[in-house]
Amino acid sequence: MLSFEDKKLFIKEIKKIEKVEEVFEMKNYIQHGNTSTFDHCLLVSYFCFRIAKEKNMKVDYSSLIRGAFLHDFYLYDWHEKSITHRFHGFFHPAASLKNAKTYFKDINLIEENMILSHMWPLTFRKIPKCREAFLLCFVDKYLSLLETLRLNKNS
Ligand SMILES: [Fe+2]
Ligand SMILES: [Fe+2]
Repeated sequence: MLSFEDKKLFIKEIKKIEKVEEVFEMKNYIQHGNTSTFDHCLLVSYFCFRIAKEKNMKVDYSSLIRGAFLHDFYLYDWHEKSITHRFHGFFHPAASLKNAKTYFKDINLIEENMILSHMWPLTFRKIPKCREAFLLCFVDKYLSLLETLRLNKNS
């Protein structure tokens, strides 16, 4: 369970991110099933933070929240048939990082590595190099699987 102080920190960091209105564009795109990219990113960020707090991990909590929230900030519908979307799995981390750097001027090296390596091992050269990136890599896959399974259950 998160303490009151932990919850306050999480909300404070999310509110800082939400000052950039482009992040709300993620609400226009579906990630998996019925889950918007915005909701997926918020959930991934929350679970990364919660696990790190519960396991008392030595991580940069602000970077963890921000890197996890921005990991899928690519702003397009990857379900649309198009040549550029065919390799979405390989290329969207770089697209997300590009947007993150455009709209947030102070993306740090932890956040950069988190965003770029979150699809590892698919993107085999983009390796998670810090605890924050490993945690995101795991939580993203786990929640993506749950979102996809829920899709199959409803269809
Ligand atoms: Fe992703
Ligand atoms: Fe994701």
